[in-house]
Amino acid sequence: MRSNLGQDFTEVRYRISPFVVLVASLAAVAGILFGFDTGVISGAILFIKSDFHLTPISNGMVVAAVLLGATLGSVVSGRFADYYGRRSLLIMTSIVFLIGTLCSALAATVVMLVLSRVVVGIAIGIACYTAPLYISELAPANFRGMLVSLNQLAITLGIMLAYLVDTYYADSGHWRMMLGFGVVPAVILFISMLFLPKSPRWLLLMERDAQARATLTRIRKTELVDVEMDEIKQSIQNRGDWRVLFQKWVRPALIIGLGLGFFQQCTGINTIIYYAPTIFELAGFKSHATAILATVGIGAVNVMFTIIALPFLDRWGRKPLLYTGMLMMMMSLLALSVAFLFHSDSDILRWTAMVSMVVFISGFAIGLGPVMWLMFAEIFPLEIRGLGTSLVVAASWAFNGVIAWTFLLLVKGMGESATFLLYAALTLFGMLFVNRVVPETKNVSLEQIERNLRRGLASRELGSV
Ligand code: BGC
Repeated sequence: MRSNLGQDFTEVRYRISPFVVLVASLAAVAGILFGFDTGVISGAILFIKSDFHLTPISNGMVVAAVLLGATLGSVVSGRFADYYGRRSLLIMTSIVFLIGTLCSALAATVVMLVLSRVVVGIAIGIACYTAPLYISELAPANFRGMLVSLNQLAITLGIMLAYLVDTYYADSGHWRMMLGFGVVPAVILFISMLFLPKSPRWLLLMERDAQARATLTRIRKTELVDVEMDEIKQSIQNRGDWRVLFQKWVRPALIIGLGLGFFQQCTGINTIIYYAPTIFELAGFKSHATAILATVGIGAVNVMFTIIALPFLDRWGRKPLLYTGMLMMMMSLLALSVAFLFHSDSDILRWTAMVSMVVFISGFAIGLGPVMWLMFAEIFPLEIRGLGTSLVVAASWAFNGVIAWTFLLLVKGMGESATFLLYAALTLFGMLFVNRVVPETKNVSLEQIERNLRRGLASRELGSV
C-alpha cells in the first residue's frame, strides 16, 4: 500500500526495539495467570477433595468452574475491550484476578470455592485475548508473530509454575497456598500495566491522535510514525457496533477463528495437560512419583518447544508451523492408539505413551498453541477487534470444556485406542482446514489484512499484499 506520504508501507521492516519487547513481556504476564490458574487445580483438587468431602459432582464443579467462568468472561467482555481500551481492561482484570484468587484461597465452603473459581475464570476469559490483542497492536508487523506468542510462552510457563507449586506443597497438602500463589502474577500484572502505554491503534480508533503519535514515536523510534498513523487511520471507517460482526465481509474472520478454536481444543491438548498422570497410569506407570515427574517433564517440553517456535513464526510463517506441528500431533496420536490396542500393560505401551506424549506436546507447542492466539488477534477489523476476538475465544473455551468433560467418558465408553484415533482423525481434518481456509499472515500489517477482508477476498487470501 502506498501511503499519502508516498511510502510503500507494506515493505517497511522494523528492527526490534527493547522497549517493545519489554512491553510485550509484561503484558504477557496475563498468560502466566491463565496457565497457572488452569493448571494448579490438578494437584490442589486431591486435598480439597478430602477437606471438603467432595462428591463426584462437587469435584467436577470445582474443576470446571474456571472453564465456565472463562467462557462467560470472554463472551461478555468484548465490547469493553473496544470501549475502555485493551490496557484499562487488563488493569481491571488483574484486580478481578486478585479478588477471585484470594477468595478461593480463603474459601470456607465448597460453594464459596466454586464461586471464587468462577470469578478467577472470568478474569482468565478476559485476559487471555486482551493481552495478545494489546501486543499485536503495538508490535511491528515483521515481529508480531514472536511478540504476540510471548503470551503463549507465558501460558506454558504458568502451567509449569502450577505443577511446581503443586509439587512443593504436595507433602503438606496446603491447597490454600497452592491456589493463593496466583496472587503473585496478578500483582505483577496490575503494577506493570499501570506503566505501559495504551494501544496506539485503539487510541486512533478513539480519535486521540496526539496520544497515538506519542506512543508510536516512543515504541518505533523511526521517522515512519506518520506513515503508520496514516495507514491505521485509513483503515478506520467508523466505530462499529456488534452488527458489523455478522456482516458478510467479516465472515471469513469468524470462520478462521471458530475453526482454529475448534481444532486447537478438539485435537486433545488438554486431555494431556489436565490428565497426563491419568494417561501415564492407564499406560501402566504405577508409582505416583513417576507420574508427577513425567507430568512436570511434559510441562517443560511444552515451554521448550514454544521457545523454539517463536523466531520461526515470522521467518517461516504461521502455516508451515501449523502443518509441521499438526503432523507431529497426528502421528503421535496414531502411535498412542496402536499401542493401546496391541500392548496392554507392557513396556512397549509405557514407552510409546511417553514418547508419543512428548512428540504430541512439542507439535502443539510449535503449531496450534501459539498460532491460534496469534491469528485471533490478527484477523478481525479494528472497529470490532475486541468483540470479534472475544466471541471466537468464548467458543474455544466452550470446546475446551466439552473435551475436558468427555475425555474420560470416551475412554470408558469406547476405550483408549478408539479415543486417540478420534483425536488423530480430527487433527487430519484440522490440517485440511489449515490448507483450505487459513491465510498466511507473516509480515503483513493488520491494516492490510483488514483491507483484504473489506475487498471480499477469500479467507485463505487474507494475507496477500
Ligand atoms: C491452550 C490451552 C492449553 C495451553 C497448553 C493454550 O494455547 O489454549 O487450552 O492448556 O495452550 O500450553
